[in-house]
Amino acid sequence: MGYKGCSMTEVPPYRPLSGKTILYGVTGGIAAYKAAEYARNLTKLGAAVVPVLSRNARRFISPLTFSALTGQRSHTDLFDLSGAETIPHIELARSSDLFIILPATASIIGKAANGLADDLISTLLLSYSGPVLFFPSMNPYMYGHAATQENLKALRALGYGIVGPDTGEAACGEVGQGRLVPWDTAKEGIIAALTPSSLSGITVVVTAGPTRESVDPVRFISNRSSGLMGYAMAKVARRRGAEVKLVSGPVSLERPPGVEFHGVETAAEMAEIVKGLAGGADVVVMAAAVADYTPRQSLDRKMKKSASNLTLELMPAEDILSFLTSHRRLGQIIVGFCAETHDLKANALKKKREKGVDLLVANDVSMPGVGFDVPTNEVLIIDPEEEIEQVPMLHKEEVAEHIWDRIQGLVS
Ligand code: CTP
Repeated sequence: MGYKGCSMTEVPPYRPLSGKTILYGVTGGIAAYKAAEYARNLTKLGAAVVPVLSRNARRFISPLTFSALTGQRSHTDLFDLSGAETIPHIELARSSDLFIILPATASIIGKAANGLADDLISTLLLSYSGPVLFFPSMNPYMYGHAATQENLKALRALGYGIVGPDTGEAACGEVGQGRLVPWDTAKEGIIAALTPSSLSGITVVVTAGPTRESVDPVRFISNRSSGLMGYAMAKVARRRGAEVKLVSGPVSLERPPGVEFHGVETAAEMAEIVKGLAGGADVVVMAAAVADYTPRQSLDRKMKKSASNLTLELMPAEDILSFLTSHRRLGQIIVGFCAETHDLKANALKKKREKGVDLLVANDVSMPGVGFDVPTNEVLIIDPEEEIEQVPMLHKEEVAEHIWDRIQGLVS
């Protein structure tokens, strides 16, 4: 294949928000301190982040913190015309791709629900015509109050997006719903709001991670899959508006927000769940590293060691992918993955024919930075005409974007 050696340092950083400007409204809640870190994270994803702080937000955190973290001037005053050619709220509203309010207090939610405009953030909300996301954060009683709930309903009816809040212990010590969502959830909500809904109306099943085949109560046979590639496939599909069902073997990754999650352990469990879900799926992506063999017998009691050699008898596990392709519903797209250590192209083409998949994504897991347990991947995508696209080494979420671009071309 003539691969060029590619070290991790050469992989370009993943910047899905490159070229996007986010107007970042911060209102006065204790979670304003987290907002500073989230703002920084968004700039790392490539976004230009323009902070706007309410008077009460400035009691929790300084505009200077946001300016330093984002490299942009923080806006605070509705009537500050210094250096502006037009009035600031009109200029800010015009130049942004997304407006987020993070954290959003009960007060700003109430103002926005009723069209009040008495400071810079609430005025911006009325002068802004693009997508808006609120990230509520408040005491659980305030969140549960009928007035807040009515106001949130009104925001939804106005077409605003609402992400969270999360459940847990609030800063005041109360436990309940009201916490700002964690960064991963905020990130997915923001990327999704800036991503065209090209998979809207499509139901997708994605498998990910390894399986574990039990030998006895303390031992199992498994593989090195981290689940990163499958989780990236699930996240990107969700960002594009698909309904996503993720069937995952045991991994140490956060569940992607907004996806229906099915945790499994063995190949047999994965087969059962996938077969149950596949009938309702437009696309099935088998990114899991499913066991090919499973012990003929799983012992109830721990196996004791002895001085002699030990032979474990293994029997074939069901090939889920082959089952799916031979039972596919009309128009269903089935995508397989293959991990090879040599003769990548030849083995991948053979596997594509044998498994009868529409697309096969192949990688050479013997290469550094490719395959198991690394954040990057380099793959070949083989399409129905056996045309091969070589995707260079990229972050797995960016590789997933390439794969979904190809899948979308096949979805009728
Ligand atoms: N797969 C499956 N069920 C199995 C084993 C694999 O559905 N019991 C799927 C994987 O999810 C993947 C594809 O088959 O999409 C190829 O997996 P891979 O391990 O590369 O190939 P195998 O079919 O197992 O063949 P081999 O191990 O001989 O390379």
